Order: sequence, then structure tokens, then C-alpha cells
Amino acid sequence: MKAGRSPLVRFLLLLSLGVSMAAAYPFRPPPDLDVTPRVTIFSSSVHSRKRFASPPAVNYSTLSLEADGRRLFIGAREAAFSLDASDIEAVPALTIVWEASPEQKQQCLLKGKDNKTECFNHIRFLQRFNATHLYMCGTYAFRPLCAYIDTENFLMSRPEEGRDKCPYGPTTGYTGLIVDQELFTASQYEFRRFPDIRRNSPTLKTEDAPTRWLNEANFVGSALVRESRSTLGDDDKIYFFFNEGVGQQQSAASGAHSRVARVARICKGDRGGLLTLQKRWTSFLKVRLACSLPEYDFYFNELRSIFVMPGDATRDTLFYAIFGLGWKSVKASALCRFSLSDIQDAFGGPYMETQDSGSNWKEYTGKIPEPRPGTCMTDATRARGINVSTSLPDDVLNFVRRHPLMSRQVQALDRHPLLFRRTTDYTHMAVIAVLGLDGLQYHVLYMGTDEGWLHKAVLVETQLHIIEELQLFEEAQPVDNVLISVQQMSVYVGSPSGVLQLPLSDCGRYASCYDCILARDPHCAWSREGCVDVTHYTDKTSLIQDIQQGNRGCDNTQDVVPTRSRSVRVGDDILLQCELSSNLAVPAWTLDDRELHGYGLSSGFRTGTDGLLVIRARLDQSGRYTCYAVENQIWVGVVAYNVTVAPEPPPPPTEEPHHRYAAAVPPAPSEEAPALAPQRPRPQLLSTKNMEALYLSLITILGSLCVVLSVVLFYLGFCLRVGNQGKYSLRNAAATYPPEKQNHRKKQRHSAHLELKTISGNGHSICNGVHSAGFLQIVPGEARTSPNAESAAPPPAPPLPAAPDCNFPSGLSATLPSVLRRMNGNSYVLLAQSDGDSVAPSFSDELNRMLEKRKRTQLMPRPDESSV
Ligand SMILES: *[C@@H]1O[C@H](CO)[C@@H](O)[C@H](O)[C@H]1NC(C)=O
Ligand SMILES: *[C@@H]1O[C@H](CO)[C@@H](O)[C@H](O)[C@H]1NC(C)=O
Ligand SMILES: *[C@@H]1O[C@H](CO)[C@@H](O)[C@H](O)[C@H]1NC(C)=O
Ligand SMILES: *[C@@H]1O[C@H](CO)[C@@H](O)[C@H](O)[C@H]1NC(C)=O
Repeated sequence: MKAGRSPLVRFLLLLSLGVSMAAAYPFRPPPDLDVTPRVTIFSSSVHSRKRFASPPAVNYSTLSLEADGRRLFIGAREAAFSLDASDIEAVPALTIVWEASPEQKQQCLLKGKDNKTECFNHIRFLQRFNATHLYMCGTYAFRPLCAYIDTENFLMSRPEEGRDKCPYGPTTGYTGLIVDQELFTASQYEFRRFPDIRRNSPTLKTEDAPTRWLNEANFVGSALVRESRSTLGDDDKIYFFFNEGVGQQQSAASGAHSRVARVARICKGDRGGLLTLQKRWTSFLKVRLACSLPEYDFYFNELRSIFVMPGDATRDTLFYAIFGLGWKSVKASALCRFSLSDIQDAFGGPYMETQDSGSNWKEYTGKIPEPRPGTCMTDATRARGINVSTSLPDDVLNFVRRHPLMSRQVQALDRHPLLFRRTTDYTHMAVIAVLGLDGLQYHVLYMGTDEGWLHKAVLVETQLHIIEELQLFEEAQPVDNVLISVQQMSVYVGSPSGVLQLPLSDCGRYASCYDCILARDPHCAWSREGCVDVTHYTDKTSLIQDIQQGNRGCDNTQDVVPTRSRSVRVGDDILLQCELSSNLAVPAWTLDDRELHGYGLSSGFRTGTDGLLVIRARLDQSGRYTCYAVENQIWVGVVAYNVTVAPEPPPPPTEEPHHRYAAAVPPAPSEEAPALAPQRPRPQLLSTKNMEALYLSLITILGSLCVVLSVVLFYLGFCLRVGNQGKYSLRNAAATYPPEKQNHRKKQRHSAHLELKTISGNGHSICNGVHSAGFLQIVPGEARTSPNAESAAPPPAPPLPAAPDCNFPSGLSATLPSVLRRMNGNSYVLLAQSDGDSVAPSFSDELNRMLEKRKRTQLMPRPDESSV
């Protein structure tokens, strides 16, 4: 811990943070950045995937594709594989088993390492070396070794020393490249050693003193950019992406962050200095990568993954980067992209200088020697008679040595993240450029999460649209690598349990023209045969696609809406189901072609994302109900119901649910159509008021308790470093209900729910044992907590988990919940609806309604049948 703040100060900071998060995260993020995936596909429905795993090997995290796309090489724990990239399930897979020796494993254990995770040979490097060989490095139970692999027969050579090429452990930050048969790697190679960027031969390293060039750097990625293809006679450059610590003084200047994201660059042809900087880089410079929300002065500081997107010209190269907050117990990801030209400009800008070692950095304003320190050999330097770095003058080398850091930050392109998701930790990503039928090129992103989901997104100008989220694995596990093959039209995903191969798109999944268009997948277009992959289509003139807006072109292809019939008695509740496949769609209903507005209590309708609830049906509510999925200003018919409301027969002699209900809670006066609704006894109004007050105070107390407990949990997670526990509870909850699913549909709703979700999402592990989804939730049996309901005959509720206390704070919001949403089969979620409904139903009212409805559904074994 480097920060000098006292625990108390930090606790207070976290407290205020916690409180502000309770209100709206650290701030209220721009809503268009928290993009909801359009469709959610669970692993049981992902049919087109191929899977490779070869037990006992695990940790398939090193992937490498042949340039011709024919073979996929995999480095796992104690094994390497060569697979047919067109079908990774095809046999036989070529295998090299390379286990660390028992003696080495024993020594590893003696060094205090974990013999269940670390004391193995984790293959961390596997790349093409020359036309006939691959080069491979493994940790070999904390004694790294490297070897060549003859690709023809997939046999490895005798291993050689790997200490300067490979890290010792499986999780140490590491990146490496083979460029023209020279090996460039960056890591903290040994425990307690400084991190280092190295070239294997001739050997070059970074400088340790006087101002350490790398400070606790954790490497994330590297990229070769062929900048020799320029008019300047420039050299090729290698860019290294990493996170590193900053000194205290500097952190004040950089907005009080203890770690920042950086990119460093070196020249491929660097040969080091002659005396000064002998065997050290003479071209090492680094600069900060700023992925931030400028309007809040908020930085995402943890760089997690980088993807290089080559452009038409070298200067058009883009770097896509995934960032996190760097807080252990909070999930969040931001996506930023940086342009090479902005990075080059920053390297051409002012330098920083420091008086004493590693702290007190400020911009250098003095004279800069010539040729400009840290640049590669160009025609200009050669014209001065300097054509290799060893001939650089001493003042230039001394300057480079003391000024490795540039002053300007590299801002994200568009000065803004493309995405900021608060419920997802993205781990790795790959991007492909796809030509749309409109002639424009679109970048399609494949982003893997820490729980084994793959989000596929398309970038339309600067707006990201997440086409779908795919659950890759049954058991949650992090995505360790994502790779795209254009030749195979496949995306490969490495994970602890195996490697998956998926097609770049699955257009056949979209059943209608609008579904195909609204998806906005540049690979897909609507044809007479359905939604097809455009690459398999030669005549593209008849295809319909609209990536830009995602709603045009289907006017003449209206589908038939399936129709069902329902009959009910007057006074019955009836649920007309309507499942929307898109998370971005909102339901809209018409009755005999008139739109049902307001769905408030007075209207006798209630709507949720699973259907329309007709409450105590009246005779005039007969008619044809149609459910539409409204998305992107398009109304798509989903299902229609012909509903017949029959007059009520004489009241049955035995206990009838409605009486009990009515005795429990009085409906608001304006709620019923007086002529049609049967008369029901009404209890005192006063008791309802009391109930409301009781509930509200209960809610307030529980809500504040939740916030305080969350903050305490945060404090524990951060300061006492019990991050594991926090992680566990969050993970655990997430495993029960994928957060992607929880998060859906909230976008169109009230902002109050974003807040609510954050509170309970972080706090439920302490506030209740139930893994509630973080929304206000009603489960059967809960209504028994209402004394009113108890005074009547208690319903025979099945044994079910207790109500999650923590989820009540939303009751504080002015509008009480009035929209139902079904979750996980037998629980209901209430979402507030910001319609101008004057009659706000009481909370207990809602509870009883739900209970009533539930009983009805239980009484009717087949809800699709008529209740008459
Ligand atoms: C790890 O070492 C312990 C002894 O410290 C031993 O009991 C255990 O079996 C070892 N586990 C494995 C997987 O080798
Ligand atoms: C590739 O490198 C290996 C290892 O150095 C060497 O044995 C082999 O001859 C090289 N192949 C070619 C085609 O240069
Ligand atoms: C520049 O490099 C060439 C070989 O690449 C060498 O012959 C020449 O002497 C060098 N010139 C200087 C000034 O070092
Ligand atoms: C390797 O896989 C195991 C489970 O298969 C997992 O627990 C472990 O974290 C993985 N290690 C790394 C470095 O990914």
C-alpha cells in the first residue's frame, strides 16, 4: 500500500463513495454508454459452438493462429496443441505434453508456491518463429524454459533457459512478440525483480536507475507497428501496454490515482548506447493512456486488454482497449479506443522531468538535445551521420535516460469511452472489420467476460450496439483469450476448461425481417430465404440490411401474428403472456386496435415484460388484444388474444379468493368501474394509511441499513484486503442470476432502479442470504408479512425463501411500483413506471394483487385454457 492516507480518511472517502454510489454510482453515467445487449442467449441455446478440451490439461489461455488460418495452436497447462482451425473438434489433434519434472514441482512447493495452481508448467508463449518452427515458453513450476516446436510433426526440441523470456508464474502480467525472429517480451520476470522490457538478442533491457523506467508495471499487451513503411525512413516500433504505479506526488497531478494505464514504445532496430545506456533501450518512452469521462473527471485506470486494429495507412492504426476501475469488489468495464497518430503526437510532445527518483514529476521546459531523444533512426538522423543508436551523442542518451515519461496524456478517440458497463467485467476482446451492404466498414467487437459470456457489438459511428450476449459455458469461468479468424469466419475463446469455436455470426437465429434488421449485425441481411449470412451471397442487391438505424427496409414483409383465445368470468384476473425476445424492446398493447395507455390502476390493466394483466375483468374488456414489441420506433406484432369476458355466475358457497383479497386491502375509489364491479366490504381507510406509514418507515430503516452495511463491506474489501470474500459473494450471486439478465430492460425505465440495483447488488450478501437479483422482488409467501392479509385466512403458500429485506428502498421513491415483471419462474419484480398515473397504488395493495394472481395461476394447471 503506497497511499499515505490514514485508514480513517480512506474509510470516509469510501463512505462518501458508497453513499454516492447508492445515489448513482460514483456519478450518474451517461445512459447511452451503459448499453444493454439486445438479446441474451443461454448456453443451452448456443448450438453452433465447437469445443476442444483434452483432460487433464486446463488453462487454455495461450492461443495463436497461423497466418493462413489453417491451424490453431494452443498453449495450456503442461500441454500444447495444434488443431485444425476450421473445426477444432476434428481428430486427431496434435499434442505435446510438457510437464514440469517432479523434482522441480517439489522445489516450487518448497519455495512456498501453491502446488494446486502455480507449480505446473503453464505455457505462456507460443508463436511462429520461422517457416518451420514455433517458439514456446513455459513457467516450468517457477523455473521458466523455452523450446522450439517443429510444426510439421509437432515435436518439441530440447528445452533451453527461459529466465529472460518468460515469467515465473501463471498470473504474472506478460506480453511477448516475435518480430523478424527476434523475441521481444515484457514482464516482471522474477519475483522481487523490477519489471522489464527485453529483447532477447542482441540483449537490451530497460533501465533501473536513476529514475526507474517501469514502476511495478503489469503488462497487458504489445503490438508491432510497421512504421518503417513511411517517407521518413523511420523504423518499425513496438508498443507495450501496461498498468504501473505512480509516485505520490505524481498521483496528485494525475488525479490522485495510484496506478495508471500506459503505453511505451521502442524502436525495433535499437542497439543501445555505446557507453551511456549500454545494453539499454535508447528509444524507450512512455505516455499515459486516458480513458475517462471528462465531465466527471473520472478515470478508468486499470487496463485489461488491448486489440490492435490495423488501418489503411499505418497512422490509421487503432487500439481498442478494455479498462476497469481497478477496485476488487466492483464490477465495471469501459471500452476506449486510441489512435496511433494521437499516441505519436504525445511522443512528439513535451517531456516530464523529475528532481529526485521517481517522484515530483513536472513538465520539462528546458532545451531538448538533437536528434530528438527517444526517436528511432530516420533519414534525418542518418543525414547527420547517425545510422545506429550506438552513435547517438551522449547528451541525447543522458536525456533519454532521465526523461522516459511524456507530459501529455493520450486521450481516447472522441474523448469518451464507447461503452461503460457497470455490471460486467470484460477480460479480453477481438475486433474485426466488416463491410456492410451500405458500403461502409463496421467494426464488430467480440468481448469476453469474467463469467464466460461473449458480447458481440457493432460500432456505428461512435455508438456501440451490443448485438447479443452469449453464455459460453455452463459453469462460470473467465474468458482468457479471444481470437478471430477471417479465413474460418470463426471466433476462438480460450478459458480454464477448454477452447470454443463459434461462427462470427448466426443469422439464422433471427426469425423475421424486423428481427434481422433490428439486430444490426453487419454479417446478416434479410432475403427471401430468411436472415442470411451476406458472405455466402453473391447477389446482394435483393438483401435488406440497415446497420445505421436498424429499423428500415421491412415495411412490406409484415409477419402474421399468432392469435389465441381466452375466456374469463367477470372479476377474474387474466394474464395475457407476451415474451419479448429482445431486451431493448418494450411491450405495447392494443385492444381492438386502440392503444392501451397508462396501464394504471384506474385502467384495470397492468403490464410487464412478460405480459398484460387484466385485473378483475369487466364486460367491456372483451376484445382483441395485440401485443407489440416496440423497439427502435418499430412496432412488431408478437401475439394476439381474443378475450371474452363472460358475466359472473352466482357466488360459490365456499371461500372465494376475491373476498379474502377485498377484505385485506381496499381498492382506491377510482379504481373500479362502479356499475360492473361487484360490491365488496371495505375496511377503514385509516388502517391502510397506517400500513403505508409503517411500511415506509420500515423501508427507510432497512434501506439505510443496507447502505451502511454495503459501505462497511466495501471498506473491508478494500482496506482489510478480504477481497476474496467480497468477490465470492458477488460471484456467487452472479452465478445464480447472470447479471446481464438482471440488468436488462432497466435502460428504458426509471433511473431510480439503476440506483436501487447498485445498492442491493453490492449489499445483498450481507443484508440477506437470498441471492436476490437486486430488483424489488416479490416472492410467494411474502404477503403474509402484511398483518391485514393475516387477519383474513392465510393463503396456502408453498415453502419459499424469505423475502429479501434489502430490496425495499425503492419504496422510498415517489412513484410506487406499478409494473410487473416475472423473474425466474416464480418470483415477481416490480418496476416503477413513470406514467402520470394519479392514483398511486399502495404497496400492500400490490402484494395482495400479486398473491391473488399467483393463486389463480396455480389453480389453473393450464393457463392457456379458458377459465369458464
Ligand atoms: C501439495 O502439497 C501437499 C503437501 O504440502 C500435498 O499433501 C498435496 O497432495 C499436494 N497436492 C498436489 C496436487 O500435488
Ligand atoms: C527455424 O529455426 C529453427 C530453430 O532455430 C532451425 O532449426 C530451423 O532450421 C529454422 N528453419 C528455417 C527454415 O530457417
Ligand atoms: C551507416 O551504416 C552503414 C552500414 O549499414 C555503414 O557502412 C556506414 O559506415 C554507417 N555510417 C555511419 C556514419 O556510421
Ligand atoms: C487454471 O484453471 C483452474 C481451473 O480449471 C483455475 O482454478 C485457475 O484459476 C486457472 N489458472 C489460471 C492462471 O488461469
